[in-house]
Amino acid sequence: MEVIIQPDAVAACKLVARQIEKLVKQKPHAVLGLATGSTPLPLYAELVRLHREEGLDFSGVRTFNLDEYVGLPSGHPASYRAFMQENLFRHVRFAASHIPDGLAEDIPAECEAYETEIRKAGGIDLQILGIGSDGHIGFNEPASSLASRTRIKTLTPRTRADNARFFGTPEEVPHHVITMGIGTILEAGQVVMLAFGEGKAAAVAGAVEGPLSAMNPASALQLHPRGVVFLDEPAAARLTRSDYYRWVFDNKPDWQK
Ligand code: PGA
Repeated sequence: MEVIIQPDAVAACKLVARQIEKLVKQKPHAVLGLATGSTPLPLYAELVRLHREEGLDFSGVRTFNLDEYVGLPSGHPASYRAFMQENLFRHVRFAASHIPDGLAEDIPAECEAYETEIRKAGGIDLQILGIGSDGHIGFNEPASSLASRTRIKTLTPRTRADNARFFGTPEEVPHHVITMGIGTILEAGQVVMLAFGEGKAAAVAGAVEGPLSAMNPASALQLHPRGVVFLDEPAAARLTRSDYYRWVFDNKPDWQK
């Protein structure tokens, strides 16, 4: 796994945005896997800027979001559909934008259909991930199968508390979500995980330097041949090899940049 430590979230997200730009220029019909939460906000702001100011064209790009709450009324401001609309989709036109339907009557059928759509699109070229303070990726909570596919999951009390800030009251946070599985995520061509702030430091250390374990779902990235983790200084604070990661980044040969 490649670990890139930057002074702050904005600097990290500019690098990730450049990586996405490179992909989209090479492959105008690329498929992007997108994440929600506070973490990717500077990335989406930078993608909007690249689109507006530098003319980066996403009109051939299809997107798949990782997850969605189950049962939130359509248009609820905390739904991930509304989040994506507000922060990216109303600014940048994509060829298609897929998000699991948390209001589907038949949830298992919706999950299977989501997997089929990803396959029909040719698979995800680059998947963006955040990480929960408990190590979750998507909404794959600790103890999720490392081979899991898109399915319904039950949020832990900790994740519901972490996400309560997006809702009027903590009780309003749904208990259930639809999320891509860890097996689904690992099939992406590249996986880029972002983590910012000291609240993520323990989960990041477990994911990067801890044992591969379903108890830290992000540790599954250790199995991915092209996994990159972008951190700010506080999120990197508990890594034991950060000097090495910095040296590797600062001394990359040109062909690898
Ligand atoms: P956050 O959430 O970006 O809002 O911290 C990350 C996650 O739960 O994956």
